[in-house]
Amino acid sequence: MGRHADFCAKPAFSQQFDGVQCDLGVIKNSIPATLLITALYGQALVKVEGLVDKAGGEIILLKGMVSDRNGVPLDGLRIEIWQTDVNGKYLHSGDNRNLEYDKGFQGFGHDITDSNGNYIFRTIKPTQYPGRTPHIHVKICEGEKELLTTQFYIKDYPDNHKDGIFSRMSESEADSVSMIFSEDRDGTETIVNIVVKSW
Ligand SMILES: [Fe+2]
Repeated sequence: MGRHADFCAKPAFSQQFDGVQCDLGVIKNSIPATLLITALYGQALVKVEGLVDKAGGEIILLKGMVSDRNGVPLDGLRIEIWQTDVNGKYLHSGDNRNLEYDKGFQGFGHDITDSNGNYIFRTIKPTQYPGRTPHIHVKICEGEKELLTTQFYIKDYPDNHKDGIFSRMSESEADSVSMIFSEDRDGTETIVNIVVKSW
């Protein structure tokens, strides 16, 4: 597989939005055209092209390797993420709460895994909105085929076990999608490796 995998049949965020069904038309209506283009193509969610503002929140590097169940790296897969801004608001018309959206935050991003199966995003530590513990939505596709959808959580965040989705996972399942953050001179980063069991 090459680096230029096709998009999923639809961008993941157009299919499901925490229970709110939506489509790309709705998304387009809620996002400035330039922002949508950036959102569909970018790995960096924290600096929107053409805007001076930088995203609020704690900037992180989110990275890891995508492999099959035998640990073989999977290259050329499309990985998409989407999450709320620093105020806990989605860049989406389905989120009609009366909160101002952080225009410096892209809200969505994608990467294509490299020859070692690696992906990387520059984004913010996920924030909380009512009814959920902080999380980042994640989807992996091969061409138009959706391989996996999941959410990443903050390891040991106090509200994790009150969360209706998190609390249904076993301890090992939760650990596999929990982000442990480390600090170095380049900032805060977390590594989450993903196994595509259906491969
Ligand atoms: Fe969500």
